[in-house]
Amino acid sequence: MFNSWEELKTECLQCRKCELCETRTNLVFGVGNENAEVMFVGEGPGENEDLQGEPFVGRGGKLLDKYLEVIDLDRKKNIYIANMVKCRPPMNRDPKPDEMEGCIQWLREQTKLIRPKIIVCLGRISAQRLIDKEFRVTKQHGQFIEKGGILFMGTFHPAALLRNPNQKPDALEDFLALKEKIKEICDHTY
Ligand code: URA
Repeated sequence: MFNSWEELKTECLQCRKCELCETRTNLVFGVGNENAEVMFVGEGPGENEDLQGEPFVGRGGKLLDKYLEVIDLDRKKNIYIANMVKCRPPMNRDPKPDEMEGCIQWLREQTKLIRPKIIVCLGRISAQRLIDKEFRVTKQHGQFIEKGGILFMGTFHPAALLRNPNQKPDALEDFLALKEKIKEICDHTY
């Protein structure tokens, strides 16, 4: 258990728990408000994120920022964004189970310090690890599921929306539902 954000971050930045540390340029710790009531969790850094050390800064990230803007959320103000794994899997392959198991401890520590009310899983990888191992994004997106005092919701990964723009209206609905849920249960996000 870490008592301060600085302590956690310093320790995490030196992580060598799995082989992804060998090929990373930067470890991507996370970005946003450390007192956020709403947290977003993606899969893992891609090339741009690895180079810049910040989650979701490529094309997918620009799209994510647009959806966030529609519901008055902003990574610099009122949310926190992290990933299931903090180092880029080579060639953007899926993170391996042992890489996720090693890395989830950092995410747990971040979650303990932030104490979010809502966690939004961006895509299959985080939804299946954090909500339900059988989670199907196309079928269960937008549903709020309570676990351990936190409301979880899974929605489409921005990269999937770039590949399948026909899913964008469904994603927009999920974000609009998120806005309503925030208004209902959060005190200082808006
Ligand atoms: N995809 C993710 O899941 N996370 C990022 O940070 C970038 C792309």
